[in-house]
Amino acid sequence: MSISVEVPTPTTHGDLADWVRRIAELTQPDRVEWCDGSEAEWTRLTNLLVEQGTLKRLVKRPNSFYAASDPSDVARVEDRTFICSEREEDAGPTNNWIAPDEMRRTFATLFEGCMRGRTMYVVPFCMGPLGGTISQLGVEITDSPYVVVSMRIMTRMGEAALRLIEERGAARKARESEARANEGRSKRDHEDGAARKARESEARANEGRSKRDHEDGDFVKAVHSVGAPLEPGQADVPWPCSRTKYISHFPETREIWSYGSGYGGNALLGKKCYALRIASAMARDEGWLAEHMLILKLTPPQGEARYVAAAFPSACGKTNLAMLQPTIPGWKVETIGDDIAWMRFGPDGRLYAINPEAGFFGVAPGTGESTNANAIKTLWGNSIFTNVALTDDGDVWWEGLTDEPPAHLTDWKGRDWTPKSGEPAAHPNARFTTPAEQCPTIAGEWQDPAGVPISAILFGGRRATAVPLVTESLSWRHGVFLGANVASEKTAAAEGKVGELRRDPFAMLPFCGYNMGDYFAHWIEVGTMTDPEKLPRIYYVNWFRKDANGRFLWPGFGENSRVLKWIVDRLNGVADAVPTPIGNLPASLDTEGLDITPEDMELLLSVDPEVWREEAELIPPHFETFGDHMPKELWDEYRALVQRLG
Ligand code: PEP
Ligand code: NA
Ligand code: MN
Repeated sequence: MSISVEVPTPTTHGDLADWVRRIAELTQPDRVEWCDGSEAEWTRLTNLLVEQGTLKRLVKRPNSFYAASDPSDVARVEDRTFICSEREEDAGPTNNWIAPDEMRRTFATLFEGCMRGRTMYVVPFCMGPLGGTISQLGVEITDSPYVVVSMRIMTRMGEAALRLIEERGAARKARESEARANEGRSKRDHEDGAARKARESEARANEGRSKRDHEDGDFVKAVHSVGAPLEPGQADVPWPCSRTKYISHFPETREIWSYGSGYGGNALLGKKCYALRIASAMARDEGWLAEHMLILKLTPPQGEARYVAAAFPSACGKTNLAMLQPTIPGWKVETIGDDIAWMRFGPDGRLYAINPEAGFFGVAPGTGESTNANAIKTLWGNSIFTNVALTDDGDVWWEGLTDEPPAHLTDWKGRDWTPKSGEPAAHPNARFTTPAEQCPTIAGEWQDPAGVPISAILFGGRRATAVPLVTESLSWRHGVFLGANVASEKTAAAEGKVGELRRDPFAMLPFCGYNMGDYFAHWIEVGTMTDPEKLPRIYYVNWFRKDANGRFLWPGFGENSRVLKWIVDRLNGVADAVPTPIGNLPASLDTEGLDITPEDMELLLSVDPEVWREEAELIPPHFETFGDHMPKELWDEYRALVQRLG
């Protein structure tokens, strides 16, 4: 294939330069630009996006912009998301699978010339603090400047990340040449048997390491195109995209290829695609965890701070919990992350977590002064708002931002809107993209390259019935059982019967990059990698319990700090628990100053064995979907639960 465009390769990393050249040859952009992550670059690209009509500058918020997507390109496309593992079995029953060879053939055609008329941007990025031991590197190639400026908020992007990729490449080369030298030496030398054996085994270890390094590359390769090439003279549209969409992951070669969408989770490839789908496969191979979890820091009035990670399915309040304002006196909650946690064992045998992201890509509707004041404060400037509504004086608005909607708005589709319009002014999945460092509750150590030690892990979902406010697991393995059974109700089940459940194990259903049965097994194995007392304790929470009339029993939001307090008191051995068939429940909860009846409290902290026998019947059909991959240990946990229920 010939190429007319000049491809700059300002890097000492040979593989990176070759790859960029190959992608440019394939996609045929008009220009190739390497992104340095500078403020000057941000200014140039946001100006360009304003000129092109993709962004509108917000008069009311410094350095902030509004974008309206194509109405068809507003969310992650789970049915167009593929795990392209060599074996279908390795993608598992919860993922869409396409054979890698077939996918590559499709892409060879789709990506051919797909960047014509556009600029191809090369975006080096680091997931996690720069130089951190848990952090990982990547490069996204994209033809969307909206993606570039969004990546600058969501990741550590540009020059510094490129230097780290180059350093990693140089270190790998040094290891490879040392391994070769060692091999040559031991062949020549007349050593005694023991010395030769030692040298040979070291050489094998080095070879293993460098082979893995080489196969994985020094960085994850991510290619993104909006899939809308421009003919000479053809005018662009504000939000180019394609009807054809593929969000494809190659877990064995650690690659991501995304075509046809400009929207967040489909296009900002560091986030769901890398930090969850590819990273979960890396974590399985390397003995760590890549999870759909917030991370928060909790400091009691006296005593040491604790770090908690929590996994809830979408729309269950992860961002709100991460930024919670406690209602109990003297307690402090600070934020480390709101969506993704990477966890590895530290030298002391404890599990340490980082937030691999640098920003929040949050759902705007429902975020307001009364539900999440800290998120609202975060959004003062330097932010991008997508598919929200515009006020007449140049600010943004969405349902839930204020109790009273403005009298007139421009809705996310650009139409006049009044409270009588009968449709939401903002798309329900409208998003803010905003720097984490602007959050008033961001913890001082949120960028600690070593991460923070996790004391407790929470799972939860939206359950109107059956599930108590908080349950403590009996062991790590029982906690994994709770995580495997995470479920959420789409609609409220008002009758007090078990409603229709969507199982979302570990809140990872759309994000696990391999067979979810194997993922459960990996979690069990992680629990054997350290002393049991050094593992985080696992809890299951449910803020959404209702009474027989469909009324929420628990006020939620800041009052959730009462549950966090009980958990910390348990960790410190100063709170009592009552054993029940499903786990340990609080003997009592601090409800001082809370307007709640003893009867409601009683219901929130009770287990009805009859209801739970029905609940347990739903587990085997769920587990059976994973067939041979379902770990025996979780079936054992199921049988133990049934036995305890009597
Ligand atoms: C996304 O859609 O890009 C995203 C971040 O997903 P979610 O809000 O479900 O985590
Ligand atoms: Na499948
Ligand atoms: Mn999420």
